[in-house]
Amino acid sequence: MKARIVSTGAYLPSKILTNLDLEQMVDTSDEWITSRTGIKERRIAHEEEFTSDMGLKAAQEALAQAKLPPEKIDLIIFATHTPDHFFPSTACMIQKELGAKNAAGFDIQAACSGYLYGLSVAKSFIESGAYKNILLVASEKLSSIIDYEDRNTCILFGDGASSAIISNEGAGLIIPHICLGSDGDQENLIKLPAGGCRKVASKESVDCREHFLRMEGREVFKHAVRRMEQAAIECLEHEGLTDADVSWLIAHQANIRIIDAIAKRFSIPADRVYKTVHKYGNTSSSSVGIALHELLLDGNVNEGDRLLLVAFGAGLTWGAALLEKNSNG
Ligand code: ACO
Repeated sequence: MKARIVSTGAYLPSKILTNLDLEQMVDTSDEWITSRTGIKERRIAHEEEFTSDMGLKAAQEALAQAKLPPEKIDLIIFATHTPDHFFPSTACMIQKELGAKNAAGFDIQAACSGYLYGLSVAKSFIESGAYKNILLVASEKLSSIIDYEDRNTCILFGDGASSAIISNEGAGLIIPHICLGSDGDQENLIKLPAGGCRKVASKESVDCREHFLRMEGREVFKHAVRRMEQAAIECLEHEGLTDADVSWLIAHQANIRIIDAIAKRFSIPADRVYKTVHKYGNTSSSSVGIALHELLLDGNVNEGDRLLLVAFGAGLTWGAALLEKNSNG
């Protein structure tokens, strides 16, 4: 039995934060941001719009596209590192809103690799025969953990959500292989220092701005290219394929220079590398899912096309997934 993505969804908040807006907030310039990252603008959730709300909208789109009633969902996997609450899980929050009353649900936390980690779990549950229809949602309100006084990080991130229905039958994208990796030795490179039980919220932690994301950007950049390349090679080799067999590359939308470096290493032509980073910035776990959804909507994925998805994030975590279009179910 082969797991397949039978539908996708995405949601981006309407509010746009441009590079020119950021010029008014920190010591930066549109020229610096564009040349170093490729980002021109990003979306920011409204004050009363949360990770679960964005995830719900993306989920509703995927359910509508699959024409699947919510009662037919067996499991909800919700990837996020900006949940509405520590608990209950965000999966349970959207289960209620969707009316998916027969579904089990849990959250998964692998930072920017969350979509691929979630997809891997969904594939395993489907192919073991445990479940028939799984809803995967990746959603982040990164603006809630970004320090808009820190020019090193505030220019990079945006809010958004993506989703997929993974089923045991139907036309869609088969998932031949996914490989995942992590390296806890590098845990300090991207971190939210306070708020967990190791450093509970206090006046001091707030005064020291320790509830905002901290990142060693230059070091992360090097690891990101190396790890995504390694995962992609492992994934292709497992299937006996080479880069010549890849129709589309979707890399984590963190920085255009990282995406271009990976495409170059795999000799994938620029018009086969799908990008959303210029308009949404880094939306963390939801980024590859948003790009996949928009690529499919564009209608440029043909029968037999192979898509290579690669992601990388805090942890460190990373992963690569191979998808193959199969309309025959
Ligand atoms: N505007 C102007 N100057 C800036 C800005 C800014 N917004 N930000 C930093 N600078 C300055 C720095 O202070 C530094 O100045 P200095 O040389 O006087 O010290 C200079 O620009 C160069 O800084 P670098 O950090 O070397 O710049 P770099 O070219 O590496 O770009 C960036 C920084 C964009 C962060 C890059 O390193 C990057 O994209 N890293 C990867 C991030 C990533 O992939 N994250 C994914 C995981 S995120 C997650 O899991 C939640």
